[in-house]
Amino acid sequence: SSPQPTPDPGRTGASELIADALAAVHEAFRDLDEGTVATYIPELATADRSLFGVALAGVTGSIYTAGDADAPFTIQSLSKPFVFALALMDRGLAEVLEHVGAEPSGEGFNSIRLDPATGRPPNPMVNAGAIVTTSLVRGASEEERFARILDLLGAFAGRPLDVDGRVYVSESETGDRNRAIAYLMHSAGSLTADVEATLDTYFRQCSVLVTARDLAVMSATLANGGVNPVSGERVVDEIVTEWVLAVMATSGMYDYAGEWLLRAGLPAKSGVSGGLVSVGVGQFGLGLFSPPLDARGNSVRSVAAAQEISRQFDLHLM
Ligand code: DON
Repeated sequence: SSPQPTPDPGRTGASELIADALAAVHEAFRDLDEGTVATYIPELATADRSLFGVALAGVTGSIYTAGDADAPFTIQSLSKPFVFALALMDRGLAEVLEHVGAEPSGEGFNSIRLDPATGRPPNPMVNAGAIVTTSLVRGASEEERFARILDLLGAFAGRPLDVDGRVYVSESETGDRNRAIAYLMHSAGSLTADVEATLDTYFRQCSVLVTARDLAVMSATLANGGVNPVSGERVVDEIVTEWVLAVMATSGMYDYAGEWLLRAGLPAKSGVSGGLVSVGVGQFGLGLFSPPLDARGNSVRSVAAAQEISRQFDLHLM
């Protein structure tokens, strides 16, 4: 179905146009009741599959929403591009690339494959690469490292964020695959920090609570060269946003990254709780949320809605 915003002669400004388009897209995909809610973290299985929120934040600071844009959920893999930005600020590109590659894996988010020559995980957007990336964030102690991550995510969102303790415990108790990946990377030399401490920080980082509105502001900050358009705070350097967006474009959607770029034409990142961010460079950030996932772990409604928004506004970069 292709939503057509109904033109209203009394509403002609750009902001009305955007608000109407978001409402129409939300309406068009609200009943797209396909996919399954993630269950590998038991606490995620309790999510309400009917939730669906859409938010857009412009680089001017205007925010538009439709549906459940203020429903909280854990950030999961959507933390990865933002923590990658922090690692790049702390270490620079050359040092980060000694530990993690920048090539699309063509594999699922939990792939265990490392580069046989270097021991590096393929990119910072899959779990393996994200765990290494977390270990590269500076901190005198593990508490300080996590505090810096939480502060950074809050600076991107423009408000202080908290951890969902139940999801954190649930993920930590069932995270054996991530443990296996982390130990393998430690033996291969790409993960040099303490394995259990790094995993604990990674699990906490994945359990930070956000909303679709937060995700829109976070991605608008990337769109805006690293300055949060709502708070006015410079969060990261502009060059860092270029590196992060490039890796999102090639690897942000796992083994759907290629077809995603073909159809939507925008850098994006998804997560298993059903969130999606997509970035119109220099223009806006999109944040979407709906728990049911397709076979590759991407939110069914969020992918459909983001592709439709890109099509309607002619946003494809190519
Ligand atoms: O590492 C994990 O398993 C999760 N905490 C994050 C994974 C995630 O969101 C992948 N997304 N599709």
